[in-house]
Amino acid sequence: MNFKTLIRGANIVDGSGSDIFRANVAITPAGTISVISPDKSAKADQIIDVDGLYLAPGFIDVHTHDDTVVISNPGMEYKISQGVTTVITGNCGISVSPVRLKGNPPNPMNLLGKKEDFIYPEFSDYLEAVNRANPSVNVAALVGHTSLRSNVMDDLFRPATKAEIDQMRTELRRALDEGAIGLSSGLAYDSAYEAPEAEVKALVEEVARSGGIYTTHMRTEFDGILDAITEAFDTAKHGSVPLVISHLKCAGAANWGRSIEVLELISRKSKSHPFACDCYPYSASSSTIDPGQVTNKNDIFITWSEPHPEKSGNMLDDIADEWGISLLDAARKLMPGGAVYHCMSEDDVKNILQYKRTMIGSDGLPLDPFPHPRLWGAFPRVLGHYCRELGLFDLPEAIHKMTGLSAGEFRLKNRGLIADGFHADLVLFDFDEIRDSATYSAPKLPADGIYGVWVNGILSYKPGWLIEKGAGRFITRQ
Ligand code: ZN
Ligand code: CU
Repeated sequence: MNFKTLIRGANIVDGSGSDIFRANVAITPAGTISVISPDKSAKADQIIDVDGLYLAPGFIDVHTHDDTVVISNPGMEYKISQGVTTVITGNCGISVSPVRLKGNPPNPMNLLGKKEDFIYPEFSDYLEAVNRANPSVNVAALVGHTSLRSNVMDDLFRPATKAEIDQMRTELRRALDEGAIGLSSGLAYDSAYEAPEAEVKALVEEVARSGGIYTTHMRTEFDGILDAITEAFDTAKHGSVPLVISHLKCAGAANWGRSIEVLELISRKSKSHPFACDCYPYSASSSTIDPGQVTNKNDIFITWSEPHPEKSGNMLDDIADEWGISLLDAARKLMPGGAVYHCMSEDDVKNILQYKRTMIGSDGLPLDPFPHPRLWGAFPRVLGHYCRELGLFDLPEAIHKMTGLSAGEFRLKNRGLIADGFHADLVLFDFDEIRDSATYSAPKLPADGIYGVWVNGILSYKPGWLIEKGAGRFITRQ
């Protein structure tokens, strides 16, 4: 065969977690991978010699809020420059489709955009819009429980009625039939907090029917975390659907050090039920401003505020001092808005990252004017800081957490591994050099050490260069 591209002499980290090996990797005209032994050559239109560099499957960002930006900003430089080739949208109970908004998007759907961005009443509308936009990354989408609630309920601060649950089921079923990969919930947020376990269980029955997955931003990540984990398992078990706990963390100073008991409980429960979780490699979280998370025990940084945009980039306690009011009053005055909460202990972050069922997800917020650095830096930070510098895990394991493990959990067929016949989503990097550049004070910087990113066999990024017409595809449930 005459290949399109031959990448010669790379150290292959194949995504399965097994040892690194030397090989040549060829990309077929159809955009799939062919692994060739290092001493054999092959004919190709383009030959790239990469002696000493590492080649891995493209990274899968399992936790994103990229729903609208894959359409409005198809270059997706903050993701592809990290080596990300696939994003999962619709996390934390909020998806941009299927949605029919009556007014402004309720919290936290406002993380995805403004009223005019919610223009996909059916899941198929969204799928078509993504394909028309030609994003540089592949996209697979969950359906958000809060989004379904906003379609059928006039008031989100109560449980749904039987009739409303039936309507949500119908909408969810249709979206799953059209290719959504599962259901997400965001039970900690006020707009879903009043939903009892039974409401979510009814929806999970639909997920089971179609072979999808259930992901959850749990009821709480603070003191009640063990009960919240139990609720998450009970809900997923109800439909016998695989469970993914989103951005697993022990939040709040009172909760620091509890990752050990959290992981013990999870290990026990996951013996009888399929489980994985995702985690971003930072000890600060970020979301909308939440009065329930206002505390003087840790720093809170304001990233945006609709009524006070001039306060973006300031600490909440400085703003409160300046205004001569309490932290809580200042937070309320800034809403709606966004914040970074320095609410975790580094030891807990390490324990959770290291856990064998933990995948990497950025949880980046692309529309935030002052985004948490995870938006640009999550994946290189795992490889540079946690793997190379701290030795928290070896390179095959680190790569597995962002590729093979993730593709398996989210059932992305023929992705996440360097193997014959798999889609040629590939990242070429220098393991000595790779590092995240984005920081809390300068968050919009591409990482160092990423030398090439291929999506479906098309070179889509190299330092300083971004593809014009992206090669990403919408991945429907398979
Ligand atoms: Zn969340
Ligand atoms: Cu999220």
